[in-house]
Amino acid sequence: MGRKTFESFPKPLPNRTHVVISRQNNYQAPAGVIVVHSMEDALDASKNDIQPFIIGGGEIYKQALPLASKIELTRVHATFDADTFFPEIDRTQWKEVASKIHANDAEHNHAFSFLTYERK
Ligand SMILES: NC(=O)c1ccc[n+]([C@@H]2O[C@H](COP(=O)([O-])OP(=O)(O)OC[C@H]3O[C@@H](n4cnc5c(N)ncnc54)[C@H](OP(=O)(O)O)[C@@H]3O)[C@@H](O)[C@H]2O)c1
Repeated sequence: MGRKTFESFPKPLPNRTHVVISRQNNYQAPAGVIVVHSMEDALDASKNDIQPFIIGGGEIYKQALPLASKIELTRVHATFDADTFFPEIDRTQWKEVASKIHANDAEHNHAFSFLTYERK
């Protein structure tokens, strides 16, 4: 994840290894968080992970999408003001292989879909 995404969490997420990418050579993160300074080093740090995910934000998604083989996307069925975006998914390169719609309910204000895309 990008440094800005990492800093948007109140604390590191449970039960997973965090790899944070920053151009700041002296960037300090809590113990256990792996800090790297290039996308190449981020991928290298994750290479023995059974199921590594690139989890954003917008800058990182943009740089990493050409390297990805699968996209797990949650699309919220509502419109919001936003300043950060997931890149456009080029349907000539990606095919939707799974889609599951969830209605809004007591725990979710908006309906949403879980979508899976694989590279063609
Ligand atoms: N809805 C979602 O699925 C989702 C997921 C993740 C995040 N988000 C949101 O996205 C926002 C953050 O996204 P963002 O695009 O502003 O930032 P970001 O992608 O999280 O982080 C950008 C930072 O990553 C570092 N970086 C980027 N490319 C690098 C490279 N090639 N080499 C080394 N370091 C690199 C730089 O850190 P330095 O400035 O330290 O050098 C840069 O400022 C937050 O609001 C977060 O809540 C949403």
